[in-house]
Amino acid sequence: MGTGPGGPAEPLEVEDAAFWQGRMAAALADVAGAQSPEDLEAARVRHLGRHGELSLPLRSLGRLPEERRRAAGALGNGARGRLEAALAERGGALAAAELERRLRAEVIDVTLPGRRPALGHAHPLATVRRDMEAIFAGLGFVVADGPEVESEWYNFEALNMPADHPAREMHDSFYVQAEPRPGEPPGRMLLRTHTSPVQMRYMLARQGALPVRVIAPGRVYRRDDDATHSPVFHQVEGLLVDRGVSLAHLRGVLTEFARQLYGPGTALRLRPSYFPFTEPSVEADFSCIFCRGAGCRTCKGSGWIEILGAGMVHPRVLRAGGYDPEEVSGFAFGIGIDRVAMLRYGIPDMRLLFEGDLRFLQQF
Ligand code: PHE
Repeated sequence: MGTGPGGPAEPLEVEDAAFWQGRMAAALADVAGAQSPEDLEAARVRHLGRHGELSLPLRSLGRLPEERRRAAGALGNGARGRLEAALAERGGALAAAELERRLRAEVIDVTLPGRRPALGHAHPLATVRRDMEAIFAGLGFVVADGPEVESEWYNFEALNMPADHPAREMHDSFYVQAEPRPGEPPGRMLLRTHTSPVQMRYMLARQGALPVRVIAPGRVYRRDDDATHSPVFHQVEGLLVDRGVSLAHLRGVLTEFARQLYGPGTALRLRPSYFPFTEPSVEADFSCIFCRGAGCRTCKGSGWIEILGAGMVHPRVLRAGGYDPEEVSGFAFGIGIDRVAMLRYGIPDMRLLFEGDLRFLQQF
């Protein structure tokens, strides 16, 4: 069949409006059925891509002679135009739907209650220690500390407890393999059994200056382990050295401490006792904070609770610390922080303070 200047004699299907109607209807159906931008792109490629259902017949129009091409072209371009408009419209609708979906997914309900991060709080021992520090700071004492790994010299010797002193037996010690610090006296090393070595370190650091008015809170270690003794516990050491210091001053400071700690009605009782580093030595009781002296289980019916050891600093200790006992005098005390905390909070077993059990700690 020849295709002369007039083109094919028979009308081709691209010259038939029904042909374009059919292609367009199929394409519009695909567009309408597209549920996503990807669906829609697939529909565009299928109909308007390089080998698309509309592209191919549109391209074939070039084979028609001018006159007939124009007529068929109008049909084909009309179909293409409608399809492009449909694609644009469906594309807009899908984008809008997608935006809506994302906005909904991102919605924040500002009326929901917030999630609070769990906050920690001070351990009961830390609270008690801080309270004790604040009371003594108010009385003019400064806070110092010393090493927990201590030498026998500071822990015992300088405190008037030579190697053969029976009082060393009271302090069942943990010895450690270590060397004394450079420039310090030779001897074995141990975990300090009390905070009293800080007395010595502080006096030596003061180099004879007056007054000495210091407290030293910290951890101490003894080979003890039962309901009222833990191998690690805490003390606050106190030391005051000046001219003319007497037992009456010690009594005054401890009475004030007792009243601030447990209330203005708290009474103080001193009993004679013995420590190698004080002379005279006393044991100090507070009137029972539970029964106010009437007698109860905590004070075992006595009305008094033993809180601390104290005394006038032994002349040998003053001398070892660089002070002349002919010119100055002083008092010292050592308070068990754990005991104070147990009394304040009614804690029956000291070991609870060291086990880190949240069921216990969360009660404070
Ligand atoms: N260091 C003594 C102890 O641990 C307490 C104490 C300190 C006593 C200061 C007197 C003076 O038992």
